[in-house]
Amino acid sequence: MGGRFLLAVGAFCASLATVYGQNSTSAVSPNATTSFRSIFTVPADSDASVPLIPNIYDSEAVNPQDVCPGYTASKVIRTPYGLTALLSLAGDACNVYGTDVDALNLTVEYQSGDRLHVEITPTYIDSSNSSWFILPEVLVEKPTIDADANLTIADNDLNFIWSNDPTFSFTVIRQSTGDVLFSTTGTKLVFENQFIEFASSLPENYNLYGLGEVIHGLRMGNNFTRTFWAADVGDPIDYNIYGDHSFYLDTRYYEVDETTGNLTYAANATNATADYISYSHGVYMRNSHGQEVLMRPSNITWRTLGGSIDLYFYAGPTQDKVTKAYQQSAIGLPAMQQYFTFGYHQCRWGYANWTQLQEVVDTFKAFSIPLENIWTDIDYMNQYRDFDNDQNTFSYSEGAQFLSKLHENGQHYIPIVDSAIYVPNPQNASDAYPTFDRGNETNSFMLNPDGSLYIGSVWPGYTVFPDWIGAVLNGTGAFDWWTQEMSLWHQNISFDGIWIDMSEVSSFCVGSCGSNNLTLNPVHPPFSLPGEPGNIIYSYPEGFNNTNATEFSSASAASASQALAASATALPAPTTSTTYLRTTPTPGSRSIEYPPYVINNVQGALDVHAVSPNATHHGGTQEYDYHNLFGTQILNATYHALLNVFPTKRPFIIGRSTFAGSGKWAGHWGGDNASLWAYMYFSISQALSFSLFGIPMFGVDTCGFNGNSDEELCNRWMQLSAFFPFYRNHNTLSANSQEPYVWASVAEASRVAMKIRYTLLPYIYTTFYLSHTTGSTVMRALAWEFPNDPSLAAADQQFLLGGSLMITPVLAQGATSVDGVFPGVGKGEVWYDWYNQSAISASPGQNVTIDAPLGHIPVYVRGGSVLPIQEAGMTTRECRSNPWGIIAATSLEGTASGVLYLDDGESVVQNSTLWVEFSLTQSSLYASARGTYKDTNPLANVTILGVGSSPSNVTLNGASLSSGWTYNETSQVLAVTALTNSTAGGAWAKDWVLKWT
Ligand code: GLC
Repeated sequence: MGGRFLLAVGAFCASLATVYGQNSTSAVSPNATTSFRSIFTVPADSDASVPLIPNIYDSEAVNPQDVCPGYTASKVIRTPYGLTALLSLAGDACNVYGTDVDALNLTVEYQSGDRLHVEITPTYIDSSNSSWFILPEVLVEKPTIDADANLTIADNDLNFIWSNDPTFSFTVIRQSTGDVLFSTTGTKLVFENQFIEFASSLPENYNLYGLGEVIHGLRMGNNFTRTFWAADVGDPIDYNIYGDHSFYLDTRYYEVDETTGNLTYAANATNATADYISYSHGVYMRNSHGQEVLMRPSNITWRTLGGSIDLYFYAGPTQDKVTKAYQQSAIGLPAMQQYFTFGYHQCRWGYANWTQLQEVVDTFKAFSIPLENIWTDIDYMNQYRDFDNDQNTFSYSEGAQFLSKLHENGQHYIPIVDSAIYVPNPQNASDAYPTFDRGNETNSFMLNPDGSLYIGSVWPGYTVFPDWIGAVLNGTGAFDWWTQEMSLWHQNISFDGIWIDMSEVSSFCVGSCGSNNLTLNPVHPPFSLPGEPGNIIYSYPEGFNNTNATEFSSASAASASQALAASATALPAPTTSTTYLRTTPTPGSRSIEYPPYVINNVQGALDVHAVSPNATHHGGTQEYDYHNLFGTQILNATYHALLNVFPTKRPFIIGRSTFAGSGKWAGHWGGDNASLWAYMYFSISQALSFSLFGIPMFGVDTCGFNGNSDEELCNRWMQLSAFFPFYRNHNTLSANSQEPYVWASVAEASRVAMKIRYTLLPYIYTTFYLSHTTGSTVMRALAWEFPNDPSLAAADQQFLLGGSLMITPVLAQGATSVDGVFPGVGKGEVWYDWYNQSAISASPGQNVTIDAPLGHIPVYVRGGSVLPIQEAGMTTRECRSNPWGIIAATSLEGTASGVLYLDDGESVVQNSTLWVEFSLTQSSLYASARGTYKDTNPLANVTILGVGSSPSNVTLNGASLSSGWTYNETSQVLAVTALTNSTAGGAWAKDWVLKWT
């Protein structure tokens, strides 16, 4: 492997060098610029955590199960859809991590044919103790009883059973298998104002998925604690990060007795000759508080810092059914995206002006790499202020020219918008910021408990934070103000979508640190930006030392001396556990800054690096109860703001912090990962988890965000991300450039993968449309498509895109091959290599070593699929005017089917659509369409994989094609190419049948 530079393309290197001030030996990317910054830097300790020991690590922490009394059920009343009961404290209050609630209402509802609702809430809201909290339905929808529930509940496979022995417990059983899905038997219910606990047994070696957002393998494992508290933190593994989705999928495998048909739970399903079957169910806990889910070898414990128990059990019994039902009943279906959003996105922190952005756009073109969307990070802003461009670097007038050319070329522009709003310096009359003034006048910002503005710190300095909760619950102005700002700004800059960041909501200091400091504004964050002294980026991916030894060793030396300098000034770490704060509950009041139960928040106390729990919304509610919802409400606000800007178009939004339900407004990226091989591997599990959360528009920072990337990693990653719905390369400030054209091999690898992606756009768009309309997934785990193969339970290094394509990427540095399975082989499944189109030969369960030199990503088509394709172009607009094609991959039985959905690719409401169904039986392929959307592109080719013998005649609608088709004996591929003339009016204008005999 060569160096990082593309020596063969000297001219472009030279032009890049001019742009970035590079020299010939190092790719110095944009430097952090601090020239306009004020001298005052917010002190680093303003964002420091009070030392706390998370309860899960605190050996002195009381186990609530040892000291709490539990509850007793009485007044059990049968209702049309279930039952209600009163739960009363079964002994003296334990007040272990809060104040016990003495009386609770239990509501059980069979809400539909496949959903069971179990809710436990205080019997009354104690107004003197506002801590008992019911999550408002206007903020997080609540599944309700289906209109036809009286017809369907008899079919519900779930059964609710309760007991008072020795205290109240409940069990959910799957009737068809007699399997206990959830059971609190043997545990006590704990329900306090700041702490709720319930626990269930789980079978040995259980398989749980979901419970995000976390960087972790797809299967959660049986000894793992998941913490839920939205945090602005650069992708630490196994900790809480940006979003919260308290939903899990539980898949259980059973061995089938061949003679009796009996099922036996298979904790270790390793019998190669046995037949297995799986049943999946889902559990959703509708609660917005800080939470912890403790997965232990035989049980699961749920702990929350408030709210109520609001559980939904989804019967499945397949993942597909669970996921669809979860979205349809609870969180909403994912927003449909515009066609262009499936094109490639290029971003970085550090594109410094329009000229540089134009250079990037031009360089993509010069290297013939498709570029659909160019993004700008906070660099475009005037001193990092939302809705305000820096007129020296990103002026509106120059932007108008840039954007008009960009749009003419069928490309798009997506800028970042941050969550915090700069507060102008009251002593500096020239520091005007009308966006702040307008928000302040409309009560659009969060407050301190005394009613003054809550002022934290983010990129621009001391900032305020939009008050979405006050707006929703109390009618204050944040939504309208946000819409107005977005519209006013769009008059100056015609963006095509919005990237929402810092929405956890992040603040770089504890508490309202700016309240008395506004005269210092603008201030510098309490840490060095990447590239500033002390934070120079020296890291590289694993293996970089092998290929670029000299560069690596000088970077290592520089890195070591930077670390040494930092350690000399570092604050001493706490030395003994006695310095750790433990709070005790005060009956009748809440300790919201330091709740008595300490969740294992990645940043320590709840108020660190986030707006504090005591920040107050208009109307008096507190951030403690709503923290996890900021991220989803800013997406809600942005969605509606964009509908105002583009009334007919589907809003395109990518957001950082998400919650159950965010998918109906936006997509998500995986946050600040690092340019390391592990993060490329984890990206698959991240995406698959977000499939379960109903946010299919997902991708990660391709080539890695933090640290420098390198040729090999970027090569592999550009190819892998090409098969994710959202495909973006993004990089941190001052790291080496990593656009795909920076290295020759990466440019080529990207062209190859993008060509496949763009060819498949009709298939991807159709798959996404099905997700939008039914809740089916776009990226899929092998276990979901092959539910009866227990060996796939933890498979997360391969995945499917839709139901028909399998990707087996290289995820290891230095590898030139990859091991992958071909699920279903031996049980009727056949797979075809995308590239040579021939069937794969593999044995059941075999981990096949697949040749995968750098630049090659193994992709397979599943037998039985018909894929609509379109000739690739440089933009999706170009693709959409290219001729069509079809790849039909026959199953072992010689059949295949597929669908194509078409519309105008952008409108919220479609005047006309087209739905085409393909079906292949033995030696005929039928295409039949319905709908009125017109597409006039002809059908250029049909490629049929797995045709056993050479046909002697090929006909289209009965007319023989004397030439224009070939049959390849070796690959068993029939390639029909002479169709353009006969489909000149459009491939789908008339139904057709292609036959080969
Ligand atoms: C946050 C975002 C990152 C962005 C940076 C600067 O760290 O996660 O994507 O580049 O802020 O805006």
